[in-house]
Amino acid sequence: MASWTKISMVILLVVQAYISCAALNAPKAGWVTKHLQRPDGLKTRTDRHLTEKTASNGWRTTLIPPNYRGEVEKLTVLEMIRRDVETSKERARFLDLRSRSAPYKRNKGRRMLEDFVSKIQGTPGGYSMEISIGTPPQTFVALADTGSDLVWLQCSPCEICFDSTSNFDPSVSTSYQTQGCGPTCDALGNNKQSCDPTCQYTYLYGDQSTTLGDFSLETVTLQNVGGSATTSVTGFEFGCGRRNNGTFSGTSGIVGLARGPISFTSQIAKYLNSNKFSYCLLSSYDPDSARSPIYFGDAAVPSNSTISETALLSPYDPAVVPYYYVSLRDISFGGSPLSIPSSAFEIDQKTGNGGVIFDSGTTYTVLDTVAYQSVKTAFKNSLDSVYTPVDASDLTGLEVCYDISAEIDTVSIPSLTFNFAGADFNLSFDNIMILFTIRGAGDYYMCLALLESSGLNIYGNVQQQNFQVLYDVDNEKIGWVGVDCKSL
Ligand SMILES: *[C@@H]1O[C@H](CO)[C@@H](O)[C@H](O)[C@H]1NC(C)=O
Ligand SMILES: *[C@@H]1O[C@H](CO)[C@@H](O)[C@H](O)[C@H]1NC(C)=O
Ligand SMILES: *[C@@H]1O[C@H](CO)[C@@H](O)[C@H](O)[C@H]1NC(C)=O
Repeated sequence: MASWTKISMVILLVVQAYISCAALNAPKAGWVTKHLQRPDGLKTRTDRHLTEKTASNGWRTTLIPPNYRGEVEKLTVLEMIRRDVETSKERARFLDLRSRSAPYKRNKGRRMLEDFVSKIQGTPGGYSMEISIGTPPQTFVALADTGSDLVWLQCSPCEICFDSTSNFDPSVSTSYQTQGCGPTCDALGNNKQSCDPTCQYTYLYGDQSTTLGDFSLETVTLQNVGGSATTSVTGFEFGCGRRNNGTFSGTSGIVGLARGPISFTSQIAKYLNSNKFSYCLLSSYDPDSARSPIYFGDAAVPSNSTISETALLSPYDPAVVPYYYVSLRDISFGGSPLSIPSSAFEIDQKTGNGGVIFDSGTTYTVLDTVAYQSVKTAFKNSLDSVYTPVDASDLTGLEVCYDISAEIDTVSIPSLTFNFAGADFNLSFDNIMILFTIRGAGDYYMCLALLESSGLNIYGNVQQQNFQVLYDVDNEKIGWVGVDCKSL
């Protein structure tokens, strides 16, 4: 009997090899291919690359993936996937919650601005950047967050302090100023705690992380590598955090890159004469990819003229819900539209729920149930007979996974395109599937890098990697162009 088992296993392997050779030799139209390189190790490097450059017409710095901040414990790729799935889901819940409780613009009568009670921001995560603040400048690493607007740093002395790398010390800065009541303090909206005697802010993040402190004025310095060329942004409004509690991943605070008047991007725009930024994200699982450039000002526009663009929408007042909303029309699979009902992507006129946003702080794209199930079914129908399906949901948190250990060199999958209004976002293999090993160099798996939600759709950072993504607030557009981010 044992020999029959062996023979049937050999037959199975031959059939598998035949199928994978067929996939390899005859790439199908509408499929995308990846030439595999087996991971040589499980650990990522933790070097830091914090070079900054001044571009001629703007400012450039570097986004640092979470695994390259020296303080963070070293995780395997599998552990990072599991962590990022959880944080993506958590962030999606709280970004969704905030927009649900906000007054919907086209339905102003439904709720008045004053009734807007949610102070909760999406839990920040993902990439961080350097910020220099004070006179003389003190430099910090803080989370870069496209889902929130406030810029804040933990200040010394703090009454409640989280474990940060370093704190901003206002007592040694000659440009630090607190402020009282007035329009600047009112710009905090319902994150204003009080203004007597000084303007106090409070922010609550989804995982119960909080920051409370003085909404103050400082000088922010945009500087080049050697510090020789600098731009001083005076009267920059930021939160000097005195009571802070939570996990801010070994950073000193948050740089809010969302819309609205108090965000980092809005405040430096008047000095750069342009409210735009773009970034080019490298995979945070790639051990060689510790540098992802971010550009502010006109330097943010890719020099390549083939940029694809879709309109940036403002369904809410950006001062209330500062997210980058766009219109997604459909998703195409293997070159054909899936004809997903538009209700999956639109904001519900009655409730204000739903919609689609771009976000750098959500790792995996989160899709409304109807859209997610449609994409999932399409992949399963196409791939279950080509590769060996495995249940890796406990290990990864992702649902559609395959063992591709037998596909030695090349693996092909149907293409996936997000059909935004006016332009397609054509994904490459690495934007669709996440590759990892479980035991070591001998095995190889892939999982569909999408998550399911009910409500807000979030176009996350795995799907943006190796694209330069432009947030052009001046012209109310989101643009993208495929590039090798390492070449920028
Ligand atoms: C900080 O937050 C944790 C939960 O995240 C909570 O258990 C703890 O009591 C909080 N500490 C303070 C001082 O608020
Ligand atoms: C612009 O992009 C296209 C397509 O992505 C590419 O073929 C071309 O080489 C790029 N041009 C420049 C100047 O980078
Ligand atoms: C996206 O893919 C479609 C279909 O293959 C193609 O016609 C289109 O030019 C692509 N767009 C970009 C920007 O590469």
